[in-house]
Amino acid sequence: MERKNRLIPREDVEAQLHICDVIRAEWTEKQANQPLAFVDTYGCQQNEADSEQLRGMLQRMGYGFTDDESQAAIVVINTCAVREHAEMRVLGNVGALTHTKRKNPEQIICLCGCAMQEPHMAEKIRRSFRHVDLVFGPHALWRFPSFVQEILRNRGRIFETEDSEGQIAEGLPVVRQGGVKAWVSIMYGCNNFCTYCIVPYVRGRERSRAPELILEECRNLVAEGYRDITLLGQNVNSYGKDLGIDMDFADLLRQVNDIPGDFLIRFMTSHPKDASDKLFHTMAECEKVAPALHLPFQAGNNRVLQAMNRRYTKEQYLSKIESLRSLIPDIVLTSDVIVGFPGETTEEFEDTLRLLEEVRFDALFTFIYSPRQGTPAAKMPDVLTKEEKSRNFQRLVELQNQISAEKHAAYVGKEYRVLIDGVSQNPRHNLTSRTPGGRLVHLSGPEGLVGSYATARITDSSTWALFGEILSEEVS
Ligand code: SAH
Ligand code: SF4
Ligand code: F3S
Repeated sequence: MERKNRLIPREDVEAQLHICDVIRAEWTEKQANQPLAFVDTYGCQQNEADSEQLRGMLQRMGYGFTDDESQAAIVVINTCAVREHAEMRVLGNVGALTHTKRKNPEQIICLCGCAMQEPHMAEKIRRSFRHVDLVFGPHALWRFPSFVQEILRNRGRIFETEDSEGQIAEGLPVVRQGGVKAWVSIMYGCNNFCTYCIVPYVRGRERSRAPELILEECRNLVAEGYRDITLLGQNVNSYGKDLGIDMDFADLLRQVNDIPGDFLIRFMTSHPKDASDKLFHTMAECEKVAPALHLPFQAGNNRVLQAMNRRYTKEQYLSKIESLRSLIPDIVLTSDVIVGFPGETTEEFEDTLRLLEEVRFDALFTFIYSPRQGTPAAKMPDVLTKEEKSRNFQRLVELQNQISAEKHAAYVGKEYRVLIDGVSQNPRHNLTSRTPGGRLVHLSGPEGLVGSYATARITDSSTWALFGEILSEEVS
């Protein structure tokens, strides 16, 4: 029952698609040059996936795409709110758009995404960025065509940032960016309310897409030649809990694995509290599931973990890693960590360093805590100065760089089946590829190999990447 309420009625989505068709017909009628759209995305893969839907809707409205905002009839900036730095970058870039708008007063400037769902950000745009025409949060994304139509017809400004638990819009068109890689959202929102994090406030509550629709999307992607599918959600391990059916994330993974074809399945993000033995066994048994897990631990000290409301201890985290490694010994492990959480002392921070040494992650995403308005942590008192936090951050980065370099060095001399996924500007190595575990391997070879698998021998390594030579190609 709940699921029905969360699904936006089919006819409402159809009405938006119809608006797209009307807008496209109007361009054609005017016999104008094809209008262009510039879409810029900040933040995580979830936002990338949302931008693929924005592009899908824009294409259906008749827009082509450009990388030059001064050429664009419509500029769309999909924002992130996770740290202050992300918000500041957006504001800087939006400020710069006053110039393009002055040259082209007809230009429509849209801001959307997580930062726009924060009341103080939307208010700031309303007051100080008067050249912005349209502001909407993630909950209103599916109504983008009606906003564009209104502005094309009547100009004026639109702000659609109403708070919501969130719904699911199925059937929106997408224009994918990834070549051989594709994102598939399996759920939206988050229920965890880690005390530092803005995501639950701007993305609403957890809601899972119907398994049959996810499977159909994956089947189509495989048929279209995509080789690397990443299942997305803020916490994929709670997939299905809201559906009221007997199916969890591990079951979904197994069903995606059963789709015939030569492709890899990745997923992110996993919350350690919900990463179960069942999931680990499923990963070990499903041959298409990449031997990789991104399992953010955030802090290595139990008091800090509790203050963060993470709901696991360092010991529980380590025991999960141990179970996983006993099943998949060569698993590639990555994680996120926050330095300088309010109240974290340097002694407590050193537990994070110890955890790093115990687990030895292949790579780590390291963040300095950034207070987010409206979250509980923003009101917690700090004990360290900015300089002390920076020093701790530096120690963390140095330790991880050393571990990453050692882990990468261990690849040298070994052979891997890699997926060649792009061209690089590097003069010595013109191709990029990924090991099944997701490590970047620079290779040399014909650009026509992009999209193919190859067997590569690793010849060299650095802190950030591997370098190799192609032994044999599998031309598809
Ligand atoms: N849902 C994912 C993470 C989403 S945000 C998860 O739970 O793992 C990505 C990462 O940003 C988080 O893992 C965390 O390390 C970091 N992050 C989130 N809020 C932050 C804040 N206020 N300051 C600094 N880093 C933050
Ligand atoms: Fe944020 Fe925690 Fe939810 Fe991840 S699980 S999105 S860190 S609240
Ligand atoms: Fe940023 Fe929103 Fe993702 S806050 S990290 S874009 S969910």
